[in-house]
Amino acid sequence: MNKILVTGASGQIGSELVPALRAKYSDENVIAGWRRKPLTDEVAVGGPSVHIDVTNRAEVEKVVKSIKPDYIYHLSSILSASAELNRQAAYAVNFEGVFNVLEAAVANKTARVVIPSSIGAFGPETPRIAPNDTIQKPTGLYGISKVFGELMGNYYYSATGVDVRGVRLPGIISWKVEPAAGTTDYAVAIFYGAILECRYTCYLGPDTRLPMMYMPDAVNSLIGVAEADLGDSRHRADFNVNAVSFTPSELAAVIKKRMPEFEMTYEVDPLRQAIADSWPDALDDSVAREEWGWSPQFELATMVEDMFTNLTKKLKG
Ligand SMILES: NC(=O)c1ccc[n+]([C@@H]2O[C@H](COP(=O)([O-])OP(=O)(O)OC[C@H]3O[C@@H](n4cnc5c(N)ncnc54)[C@H](O)[C@@H]3O)[C@@H](O)[C@H]2O)c1
Repeated sequence: MNKILVTGASGQIGSELVPALRAKYSDENVIAGWRRKPLTDEVAVGGPSVHIDVTNRAEVEKVVKSIKPDYIYHLSSILSASAELNRQAAYAVNFEGVFNVLEAAVANKTARVVIPSSIGAFGPETPRIAPNDTIQKPTGLYGISKVFGELMGNYYYSATGVDVRGVRLPGIISWKVEPAAGTTDYAVAIFYGAILECRYTCYLGPDTRLPMMYMPDAVNSLIGVAEADLGDSRHRADFNVNAVSFTPSELAAVIKKRMPEFEMTYEVDPLRQAIADSWPDALDDSVAREEWGWSPQFELATMVEDMFTNLTKKLKG
């Protein structure tokens, strides 16, 4: 492995994926691509970085040509709730950005491109426990872009030889960088509320069950799918990965066990509630388990404990 380029490296996932890749492949080989949002200090001082706006085809080609990465982790994205509020930006980043990165990969013989998909790639007609291969009719622009990314990935693999891979990530819970306007962000914000104020007002209803995953498992799933020996599997950019699944009231109950004075109230946001209601409760990830040995490490109780410990240190020193 010579070089790895990560786009969107200043985001929630990039801020933790880049240090993990640097620990594995050495600091100077992992280039953190950023656009407007600054990189965390850890990522900025830990190795090289480059400006890359994925909507700018010429810049994408120039950066990929100069780095000649073996792998690209393409994380740049406009997430679910933001995409509904700014369709123009979401189209440019989530559709054109994917195309620009894939074309640059073909032109520069990039071996593999990893494009994360999401539970948003499913819709209300998908069974509540989503099989790997099932009906995908998302009702939001973000979800449509994720189906596009999956299909483009599988198509580029067969049409051009660039090996495009991806996992359908659930909502990601982490403490280093706050999430950016997704639908599952409550499951991070609730910890800030608990630690700072002993209370939280949730924008999803108490019984909204969604699949979730702790960040270390998400990072492992991305590196795992990138490195897997997939042989001639017909799955490439479209693997379900599952970890935990809970409702806001179930998460509040686990937090309350640890912090009895914690209070949860609800003020439902219709936009995010509608998005959440169209997503499955959990993902059947047996294909990823069988084909490349996927297995998560964190369950609900261990995740809550780890979040409390690390976020308390971060917020209160
Ligand atoms: N966080 C989650 O809960 C979650 C769940 C499922 C899938 N995913 C997927 O994982 C990937 C990373 O998500 P994240 O949570 O880190 O998102 P994020 O919003 O935290 O980060 C996205 C990054 O994209 C960058 N970006 C936006 N416009 C850009 C442009 N024009 N050019 C270059 N970069 C641009 C932003 O600056 C940001 O750093 C995305 O594909 C997302 O759809 C995330």
